[in-house]
Amino acid sequence: MDVKDWTVIVTGSSSGIGAATVKLLAGRGANVVVNYSRSEAAAGAVAEACEAAGSETLVVRADVASDADCRRLADAAFERWGRLDGLVNNAGTTTFNAHDNLDGLDAEDFQRIFAVNVVGGYQMIRACAGHMRASGGGSVVNVSSIAAVMGVGSSVAYAASKGAVNTMTLSLARALGPDIKVNALCPGFVQGEWLRQGMGEDAYNAQLKALETRAPLRRAGTPEDMAEAALMLLAGSRNITGEVLICDAGMHLGMAAAKAR
Ligand SMILES: NC(=O)c1ccc[n+]([C@@H]2O[C@H](COP(=O)([O-])OP(=O)(O)OC[C@H]3O[C@@H](n4cnc5c(N)ncnc54)[C@H](OP(=O)(O)O)[C@@H]3O)[C@@H](O)[C@H]2O)c1
Repeated sequence: MDVKDWTVIVTGSSSGIGAATVKLLAGRGANVVVNYSRSEAAAGAVAEACEAAGSETLVVRADVASDADCRRLADAAFERWGRLDGLVNNAGTTTFNAHDNLDGLDAEDFQRIFAVNVVGGYQMIRACAGHMRASGGGSVVNVSSIAAVMGVGSSVAYAASKGAVNTMTLSLARALGPDIKVNALCPGFVQGEWLRQGMGEDAYNAQLKALETRAPLRRAGTPEDMAEAALMLLAGSRNITGEVLICDAGMHLGMAAAKAR
């Protein structure tokens, strides 16, 4: 999985999965673009860590829901290094709302979530495709969710948006070959602030404990686990495109029966 001297953009890399991914790539010798929309200080700290790992790093504020911002982000990477090899479409948003609370979710929620999670990813791929082709080819990883496959997660709008990300992955893998690979990564429960804040401390801890005792791999994923899986899809095989990879410690298979260890 050699990404040395690659140029890679990771959207939403000021925290969580994106931050872990951009740091992993930097440690492997890639030039990386750290992107954020609001969290400037956090993005700066991530960029410092990437530089300390020996990477050339660019920090770009861009809201992926804005097409002009996406084009500016892609152009900034290409202008800086004269090539663009990878894109990890990781920026995402949601609202936490129980699936049976139909009145808790309105059109505006759907439009905001789809604008970032689906349209944002599409706009980024469109902005990067020409630069990738000019670089001899490229690889895209769309960070989706187990919500896309199981209809679970923070809200119905979120699950539907990630379902659309998976479908878009198939369409664009077909459309952009042979130059550009497009794959999707579906994390399950990932330890961190996204779920801790969204679920609340008690529900978060209960789910963590359930996974650690009853998920097939008896663990809950970390941002670093997701970064490794993203790297695998990004650079692991030139023969894989249109793949949707679940990374959830086997949770989609169902909880294993509790047993004494
Ligand atoms: N955490 C989980 O359990 C889990 C599970 C499955 C899938 N995922 C997916 O994994 C991805 C990353 O989530 P995370 O858990 O790492 O959450 P996180 O720590 O909250 O990170 C989200 C990132 O996205 C950025 N972002 C949000 N809106 C943006 C926009 N419009 N334009 C550009 N950047 C934007 C945020 O930056 P700013 O703060 O600067 O806006 C932040 O860097 C998301 O796509 C999420 O759906 C997460």
